[in-house]
Amino acid sequence: MAVSREQLIKVLNEDLAKELGTIIRYNDQAARIKGLKGHEVRELLVMEIQDEVGHARYLADKIVMLGGEPTIEPYKFPRKETLREMLELNIEVELADSKAYYDHARMAEEFGDYDLMVQLENMASDERRHADQMIRLLEGLE
Ligand SMILES: [Fe+2]
Ligand SMILES: [Fe+2]
Repeated sequence: MAVSREQLIKVLNEDLAKELGTIIRYNDQAARIKGLKGHEVRELLVMEIQDEVGHARYLADKIVMLGGEPTIEPYKFPRKETLREMLELNIEVELADSKAYYDHARMAEEFGDYDLMVQLENMASDERRHADQMIRLLEGLE
């Protein structure tokens, strides 16, 4: 069955809410992480926030171009206290986001928006890289 414009706008808005929630989560974690062990995680999160802002910018513009209204409600993620818990949550969310972007790229392909398809595939790749970088840091934690 063909993908409708409304279906596409709906899933892109869910993606946008998660991006906004991730920007808030990483900003909060980066501010609260302390100590030597946390230093590299903090640096990584500050860098990744820039990627997530780029994803959110793209999604909001595309939703408007499709005739929708971009959400301003972030998805609310749980707050974690330890470095390990933060990394575990972030890895889980990044992997899920990567899979979702790949699935949504297939929807965009069916809809016939090839710019969106390629951008979502690139974003799937960005999220996978984010997950891999944090997996390396988590494996280095004692
Ligand atoms: Fe993202
Ligand atoms: Fe990410």
